[in-house]
Amino acid sequence: MAISGYGVLLKLTLASVSLVCRKRYRLRPRSPLASAPASSIPGVSILRPLKGLDTNLYENLESTFTQEYANYELFFCVDDDEDQSLTVVRDLMAKYPHVKAHVAIRNGVTVGVNPKVNNLMTAYRQVAHDIIWVLDSNVMVDPGTLARSVDILNPPPNSPRSPSRRIGVVHHVPYAWVTKHTLGSRIEEAFLNTNHAKMYIAINTVAIESCVVGKSCLYRKSDLERVNGSLKPIPDADAGGFQPGARGLAAFGRFLAEDNMIASALWHELGLRHDLSCDVAKNAVGNMSLMDYIARRIRWVRVRKRMVLAATLSEPFTESVLVGCLASLGLRYLTGFPPWLFLPIHFLAWLFVDMDVFASLAGHPVPASMRWQFLGAWAARELLALPIWFMAIIGNEVEWRGKRYEVMQNGEVRRVGEGGGGLTGWIMRWGRKSADYYQPLETRE
Ligand SMILES: *[C@@H]1O[C@H](CO)[C@@H](O)[C@H](O)[C@H]1NC(C)=O
Ligand SMILES: *[C@@H]1O[C@H](CO)[C@@H](O)[C@H](O)[C@H]1NC(C)=O
Repeated sequence: MAISGYGVLLKLTLASVSLVCRKRYRLRPRSPLASAPASSIPGVSILRPLKGLDTNLYENLESTFTQEYANYELFFCVDDDEDQSLTVVRDLMAKYPHVKAHVAIRNGVTVGVNPKVNNLMTAYRQVAHDIIWVLDSNVMVDPGTLARSVDILNPPPNSPRSPSRRIGVVHHVPYAWVTKHTLGSRIEEAFLNTNHAKMYIAINTVAIESCVVGKSCLYRKSDLERVNGSLKPIPDADAGGFQPGARGLAAFGRFLAEDNMIASALWHELGLRHDLSCDVAKNAVGNMSLMDYIARRIRWVRVRKRMVLAATLSEPFTESVLVGCLASLGLRYLTGFPPWLFLPIHFLAWLFVDMDVFASLAGHPVPASMRWQFLGAWAARELLALPIWFMAIIGNEVEWRGKRYEVMQNGEVRRVGEGGGGLTGWIMRWGRKSADYYQPLETRE
């Protein structure tokens, strides 16, 4: 009884997510800030961590030069002045001379194990504005994104949308678009644009806990400078209180998923809330093999397990395969309804919701020419979900940009030596061979 009740309930919840997606993403109105003069809108410093030439780098970076917003500056953050991405950056700076853009070189600054935080530090110390937008190098955004996001971060006083708690983070749901049509990239696309988006939007709509993937996030430096990543509430947070000791971006260099921890810290330490704008963070997925996909998923389930154990343990119960099996058993037991009839209906309904979520995010349904490939990738994703979860649950080491880390309690990481055996060690190494599928500095999905 409980099981089939749970199955039905979960399905209704997920179906309502597709309605939420329709409402939020199908119409993307232009913000009044998009045409406001610079003096009347808050300034924003955009930080783009770079390393090497990523898939689609030119277009990704160009999308931040073409924001419809009169008051922003750009920082391109690199480890050294020989980084290959700088050729692209210099071309773009010449093409858009009116946009205030800087190159920020790390020069060995090291505040922790997280290379993305180290890479951002120089720019973080130099920004001219309080609002910071950190945008991974493999992400492309629409020209109206910044104006719409600032609208949410700083809602006009007395606007009907003013939330009861101040918004501390505005983020964007990742949306994959495939540039190289390989098996792994297709599955990654099916994953990000259906299941992942659905859960991401559901959790952020219910908003009972921080859930942020840091592909594209806006927050205030003045807020970040008050928290330290301990997630302990600051007693006088509303009166401007702050944590003792090290604070700000540097304090997050000890985590691998610094973006997630920053959002969590603003939520728990300062009591702020998060919101999504109606924009997506378009994520170019290049040449990714099946093993790359599996290795990547294992890595992030392992990191997440250490940060939100309960949510990670309950993950299989949101997967179509397990929900379908449990619900069909329950129904047969209660009403004698045959599983061979129930399961096809279940998977069709699930697919229908997922295709609807895809259409809301993309602004169009899956194109007819891609439909069968997409269905195949979607089915593979659903079937792989549970085996991947099992492999991830039984280990703690992750490999990231060729280095091995052990994820510890609370999400902090430490470097470990080479090696690592077993099936997952083998998959991690195999997955690395064809490594050119994603930008190297990303730390999340
Ligand atoms: C962060 O602040 C808390 C107090 O609220 C303190 O107990 C903790 O030691 C601090 N953590 C770091 C890493 O400084
Ligand atoms: C992807 O990379 C592999 C090996 O790295 C290569 O053999 C294959 O041709 C590439 N596929 C595409 C579509 O670029």
